[in-house]
Amino acid sequence: MGISFAVAATNLTGLVRDYLFEQKTREDSLLTEKAAAAAAPFFAANSVEDLSRVVRENAEAMDGRLMVLDQDGKVQYDTLHEMNGRRLQLEEVLRVLGGSAEQAYGMHSPGEPDADRMGGDDYSGQLAYSVHAMDGSDGPIGALLFVSRIQGLMDSLGTVQWKLISVFVLIALAALVLALILSQVVSKPITNLSRTMRKMGKGDLSVRVPVKGSGELRELAENYNTMAAQLERLDKTRNQFVSNASHELKTPLATMKIMLETVMYQPDMPEELRREFMQDMNHEIDRLTGIVTDLLTLTKMDSEKGEIKRESVDMSGLTTEVIHLLTPAAEKRGQRLECHIEPGMQMFGDRARLNQILYNLTDNAIKYSPDGGQISVSLRKEGEELVWRVRDNGVGIPPEDQEHIFERFYRVDKARSRETGGTGLGLSIVKQLVTMHGGEITVSSEPNRGSEFRVSFPKEGAAT
Ligand SMILES: Nc1ncnc2c1ncn2[C@@H]1O[C@H](COP(=O)(O)OP(=O)(O)OP(=O)(O)O)[C@@H](O)[C@H]1O
Ligand SMILES: [Mg+2]
Repeated sequence: MGISFAVAATNLTGLVRDYLFEQKTREDSLLTEKAAAAAAPFFAANSVEDLSRVVRENAEAMDGRLMVLDQDGKVQYDTLHEMNGRRLQLEEVLRVLGGSAEQAYGMHSPGEPDADRMGGDDYSGQLAYSVHAMDGSDGPIGALLFVSRIQGLMDSLGTVQWKLISVFVLIALAALVLALILSQVVSKPITNLSRTMRKMGKGDLSVRVPVKGSGELRELAENYNTMAAQLERLDKTRNQFVSNASHELKTPLATMKIMLETVMYQPDMPEELRREFMQDMNHEIDRLTGIVTDLLTLTKMDSEKGEIKRESVDMSGLTTEVIHLLTPAAEKRGQRLECHIEPGMQMFGDRARLNQILYNLTDNAIKYSPDGGQISVSLRKEGEELVWRVRDNGVGIPPEDQEHIFERFYRVDKARSRETGGTGLGLSIVKQLVTMHGGEITVSSEPNRGSEFRVSFPKEGAAT
């Protein structure tokens, strides 16, 4: 860019110089021609007095030195009276006297032959020679030479040139500074972003872009960081999920291996004990199957991204069915399982999944209530919503745990839950299913007093 400015500056000064020189040449030539025409008759007539007067007057008006030359190039009259009688061998003079041109023009620097003396005694600058032929009645009789001082012109041209160059240098500098600033403002954030993206692409999800400046670039950086944070969180959750799942699967497997080995290496084990071991193993296998089924349900829901079937479901009937299904389990522990179901309740949704929501909640209520406890399930319309309430008078959930129970693998009391066969997946499945149906789930609970889970759906059921 700097180079192109320098070239432009040189070209421009070149143009200015050419223009000024052309002006000067044309002006001088015209004046010389006029003066030559005025002087010619007197020169032809040999009237010295008139000739010197006319030439002097013209020289004064033209602000320069005039010389009248004869056909041989000899000076017949010089306004400075120095060169009288000398033969001038100047190129311009030779050209005009030789007959090859009516007039000639040329510029000369000090130091060229003859040029030194042409400007007069006390002058040593640039000179311009303008020569024009003088014609008498019978053809050429000589030439008029006009010597003008052009140092002033050259000087001012130099000044102009210098000024132009400095202006262009200034512009180039300003452009350079501007480009630097722009690159700082525009390209630096983008470089940062792409560097961060590269790092992230290599697997480091913790990197972030510095958020600076304003406008679109700032927004871009912020959005990028939000996305990165989301990805990092997802990645963490997934890792945690996988490690929790493996851990949960390992425990029943280890238990089973111990039991199996005991049976294998004690061939003389009493039949009674052997049967007990087998039953325990069977129980562990059921548990394992349950965990795997839950895991499959979760991953399936993840991959479906919230798409569900929408069919008309008889919620009153569904609730009755779930209660029937779980009554034996409650009775086994001497618990009372009562229900209040508004008849004829309908909603759009996925029957099997709605079933699983209520099943998991009621199953928990039974599991986390003491023998002889009291459990109640209700279905009714509340305003515009369809609401399930599952209440028990069991162990309850401490306030600090309440916000976590919907997380995968979260259990309040790890040891006791394992005993009762819990994995901590039930509520996370419930939460996801409820959300898929456009509903909401909340819990209110007091330790040792009991818990109530409330599930509400919009009246028409799942939104599309
Ligand atoms: N009705 C309840 N009363 C008291 N605690 C509860 C109740 N329901 C859930 N919890 C607590 O919340 C935890 C998470 O429940 P969740 O149903 O997700 O898992 P789980 O019952 O332990 O295992 P599973 O995956 O077999 O359902 C339970 O371990 C328990 O500590
Ligand atoms: Mg459960």
